[in-house]
Amino acid sequence: MEHAPPDVKVFLVGFMGTGKTTLGRLLADRLGWEFVDVDDVIEQAEGASIVRIFVEKGESYFREIERGVLAGAAARSGHAVIACGGGTFCIPENQALMARSGITVWLDRPFDRIWQRREELASARPLLRSEAEVRALYESRLAFYQQAALHVPVAEQSLPSALEHLLRLLRERFCIQSTS
Ligand code: S3P
Repeated sequence: MEHAPPDVKVFLVGFMGTGKTTLGRLLADRLGWEFVDVDDVIEQAEGASIVRIFVEKGESYFREIERGVLAGAAARSGHAVIACGGGTFCIPENQALMARSGITVWLDRPFDRIWQRREELASARPLLRSEAEVRALYESRLAFYQQAALHVPVAEQSLPSALEHLLRLLRERFCIQSTS
């Protein structure tokens, strides 16, 4: 059993459309912790949507802002659940920061399930292009996601059951208890 340090963060990682934000809010609620969504903080800081940032300033600018926002969230005092963007964990420097600051959790949803949601997801996600491109991106990122400390499949389970699974792992492996 590992004991979580006082300011530990739980970082939710995984591809676009796996439910990091939805599950993150539910998890933070159950733990009585703060919730931070990296993409939301980026949009607030830049005063622009993620799509606009990509279009007007490019992906490398976005990644720079993302790195700073992640570092700020990781350095906050107190516990927090942090929902990352799909690419956040695929940058070694970010991955190392998350491993130092808390517990990383891979929400693992199969590609076909994500692709089924493409219409709902597409308008806010500049990297959601053709099926072949998105599948290649998904596959290229699996090796990163597999480095996360915890693995929560959301394949056939609904998000509420993935949440219960994650709460159980946090309790059993890190002594983190929910308050409700
Ligand atoms: C991205 C995922 C998005 C957002 C940006 C880039 C990616 O976040 O950060 O569009 O590289 O996969 P979600 O995973 O929350 O959609």
